[in-house]
Amino acid sequence: KDHEKKFNIEWIDVPFTKHKIFTCNNFYLPEFLAKSLEKFKQFQVRQDDVWIVSFPKSGTTWVQELVYLIENECDFKKATQDSIENRSPFFDYPSPGLKHIENIKTKRIIKTHLPHSFLPDEIEKKAKLIYIVRNPKDVTVSYFHFTNLSTQAQFTGNFYDFTKLFIEGKVPYGPWWNHVDDYVTKKDVHVIYYEDLHTKPFEVIKKLSKYLGKDLSDDEIKSIIEWCSFDKMKNNPAVNYEWYKDLGLYKKNGHFFRKGTVGDWLNYFAVDDSQKIDHIVENKLKTKLDFNYGIS
Ligand code: A3P
Repeated sequence: KDHEKKFNIEWIDVPFTKHKIFTCNNFYLPEFLAKSLEKFKQFQVRQDDVWIVSFPKSGTTWVQELVYLIENECDFKKATQDSIENRSPFFDYPSPGLKHIENIKTKRIIKTHLPHSFLPDEIEKKAKLIYIVRNPKDVTVSYFHFTNLSTQAQFTGNFYDFTKLFIEGKVPYGPWWNHVDDYVTKKDVHVIYYEDLHTKPFEVIKKLSKYLGKDLSDDEIKSIIEWCSFDKMKNNPAVNYEWYKDLGLYKKNGHFFRKGTVGDWLNYFAVDDSQKIDHIVENKLKTKLDFNYGIS
């Protein structure tokens, strides 16, 4: 296993799950990444690529749909004609695979959860890079539910067990603080806060479209906000991932579009775990983030 040696891969057992995880470069990564690390680095980035990057459960799908509409002149009809994963492919997963993404002829909107050090070498010189940050406590809640929705993880622990793993960084793509730090400190990265999308969507979308070099009218921005509301997206079969149930990837009870709110962590967190995450944000995270909404 040469690539495992080359990348210093070490396999670890994570309690409560059948998911295999390996450590590499200060991160805990899911098994399906192990064979592709070298290919990720060598991937040919294009000048007009848009990369949407996030720690899982930070609002990636929401931003994918926003970016798709910004890039495609608010063509809502076109946005219903293909699934979000076809319109904005997931870089990390072996399917559809890097070859498929390489062969896309039109402008690419690529989704990834990879930490910065695992991205293609030329990424910053070339592509546009959007990074989404969400309150880590809400990320924990969302990630816990997502792990239970998935038929793959077979997580047997409860919320407290999951939170403990999150705090130790031992969830796929963890630790959260390393992930965030590596992106928000890069100067050409356009950072979006999930919470801002809730409280000031107009401003966020205006800035985002500027970053993408698009000048949208106020009415266009308003129609995008409406189209991308939680309820609309939850009922939109092109984005709501209900098709994963037919594929056997999600359980029948539960939805990818779960709740979509800020501060749901208040309904879940024990006081001491909440304080541990405050401690992470204040001490382990090198960047000062503006988390006065809902963090404590
Ligand atoms: P919850 O589990 O808290 O509901 P990702 O796309 O990165 O996997 O993130 C999924 C999370 O974003 C889920 O959070 C989901 O409900 C939320 N989300 C997705 N679209 C949203 C929208 N239009 N408005 C608000 N939240 C949204």
